[in-house]
Amino acid sequence: MEPATKDIIHSETIVDAKQATVEEENLMMGTVLKRLEQETIMLREMFNNVNDELTNLKKPALLVGDVVHVLPNRKCIIRLPNGNKFYVHVIKEVQELKTGDSVLIDQKALNVVGHVNHAESLDVEKFIIMQKPQETWEQIGGLQSIKEELKEVIELPLKKPELFERVGIKPPKGVLLYGPPGTGKTLLAKAVAKSTDATFIEVTGSELVQKFIGEGAKLVKDIFELARKKAPTILFIDEIDALAATRMDIGTSGEREVNRTFMQLLSELDGFKHLGNVKVIAATNRPDILDQALIRPGRLDRLIEVGLPNEESRLEILKVHTAQMSLKAVKLKEMARLTEDFSGAELRAACTEAGYFAIREGRNHVTTGDFQKAIEKIKLTWDEEEEGKMFG
Ligand SMILES: Nc1ncnc2c1ncn2[C@@H]1O[C@H](COP(=O)(O)OP(=O)(O)O)[C@@H](O)[C@H]1O
Ligand SMILES: [Mg+2]
Repeated sequence: MEPATKDIIHSETIVDAKQATVEEENLMMGTVLKRLEQETIMLREMFNNVNDELTNLKKPALLVGDVVHVLPNRKCIIRLPNGNKFYVHVIKEVQELKTGDSVLIDQKALNVVGHVNHAESLDVEKFIIMQKPQETWEQIGGLQSIKEELKEVIELPLKKPELFERVGIKPPKGVLLYGPPGTGKTLLAKAVAKSTDATFIEVTGSELVQKFIGEGAKLVKDIFELARKKAPTILFIDEIDALAATRMDIGTSGEREVNRTFMQLLSELDGFKHLGNVKVIAATNRPDILDQALIRPGRLDRLIEVGLPNEESRLEILKVHTAQMSLKAVKLKEMARLTEDFSGAELRAACTEAGYFAIREGRNHVTTGDFQKAIEKIKLTWDEEEEGKMFG
């Protein structure tokens, strides 16, 4: 009896152990299966993409022609570039055909199979930022007199053009904001757009001249056209110095290209009279190198300096950026005193840094110590920049 029972128990443990391994294997196979399934999906997707590409490559080229007449029952008369006219069918996917449209025509049956997408303004939209900003005047600390001036020069003419008509004066076409980086120039431009419910179009001078070699001038033209179409518009041109720097010699082709782009900008500004509700706000950190042609009367003749904030303004800016923070006994006035030479952007950075110090120490409120450390940290980056300038 005894040995038999032992055997049974023994074999039971073996069975148990085996079962455990099988289950484990099963689990592993399950994971492997899942992974393989995912891979299959990926491979299938890849296959489909390649296949689509292949189909596209095999497709015969389409002819481009003009619509001469649109007729009932999805028929129309088209003209091919060689002048020949055809009476053709329009497939049902093609909607809203008009005389003069450029259309795609298949080579065999000469069916109209699509519109030619000119998408002129669409192209521009890829190169610029267009939005309805949410920044308000209240989110800008200090800069009181600048806000007033912008309200008078940009906001008022957009909101109450009749005031100017009655008196018989033409409001400025735009302004040039100049001053060190991070002082709120972009912010001001956005706030004007918000308060006038205008479209905000942002372009960067350096991008205009670097990215679009040979296209700069055309792009400037298209941008102004888009601005007019979306009016009221605030057209914000950042880093205008990249376009409008004085040039000693315009010998190289690159310089000539920049010059053409700049000339186009000037001519858009000059031809501006009839588009009262497009306002240009340009910004630069380098007013010293600007071509004087840009700021001649009738162009961007309102120059507004946006300097580093004084102590009072720094307090206002700190108030803006700590409004949502939980502070514990932090004297912002004292912080404003400690942040001499800080720009608005650096003040914001100091607030964020202070918050991080609190988080790192597992607190959910920010202390004076956090601010002091944050302020020191930002000052340290200045020293590094200085060293970079000296040795770099
Ligand atoms: N006066 C200010 N009040 C509040 N925040 C400011 C102020 N100036 C700068 N900032 C902060 O710094 C950021 C960068 O400022 P920005 O307007 O881009 O400067 P600039 O265009 O002059 O280089 C802003 O988004 C804002 O958070
Ligand atoms: Mg800016």
